[in-house]
Amino acid sequence: MGAKLKFGAALCAVFAIGGGAVAQDAMFGTQDDLDTAAALWQAMIDARLAGEDAIHTRPYEGTEPHGAVLETFYAPFALNGQEGQLIVKRNHMAEGLTPGAVWDDPDASLAAVTVMFEQPDAESGWFWAKYFPDGSLDQTPDGVALAGQAAGCISCHSGAAGGDMVFAND
Ligand code: HEC
Repeated sequence: MGAKLKFGAALCAVFAIGGGAVAQDAMFGTQDDLDTAAALWQAMIDARLAGEDAIHTRPYEGTEPHGAVLETFYAPFALNGQEGQLIVKRNHMAEGLTPGAVWDDPDASLAAVTVMFEQPDAESGWFWAKYFPDGSLDQTPDGVALAGQAAGCISCHSGAAGGDMVFAND
């Protein structure tokens, strides 16, 4: 019975997600979000902010939860007619990792690429995504892709000073 109930709840969730246009606060990982995330990843590859030919910047020691060593890029960006600030954070993780080791071999320790794309025209403000190095999306424990109004990202970043969701300028 419990299992059936769960199954029913899951089905509802699928239908709710299918109506991705109904943007509700805690909704993310919708089909719209997946499409945006895929387009954004491709645009980042084209701009050499992701992928094999990506440019690099000086790695620095990071903080939890992002990674031991980070590379961060800030760029004005345009996607699907939206123009806004793009922030790309490459999160490197490995035992005993140093910025020097990342400098020498930046691909070896790349664990995730976390992205914020500002959408000034959208009520949501920022599009959030967490990619693996191959461009696939990380997921919540429940299997929801981390793209869109990702609740975990927002709950922590909403603590950034000035209410702009960005820590780097605090
Ligand atoms: C528990 C808190 C926390 C969570 C959860 C979190 N972040 Fe962050 N994030 C930070 C902190 C603190 C910084 C600034 C320090 C740093 O660079 O690590 C940061 C920095 C960033 C930056 C660089 C811009 C800035 O704000 O300085 C991006 C991009 C980013 N996070 C994306 C994400 C995405 C995408 C997610 C969700 C998948 C996420 N973050 C989840 C705490 C968090």
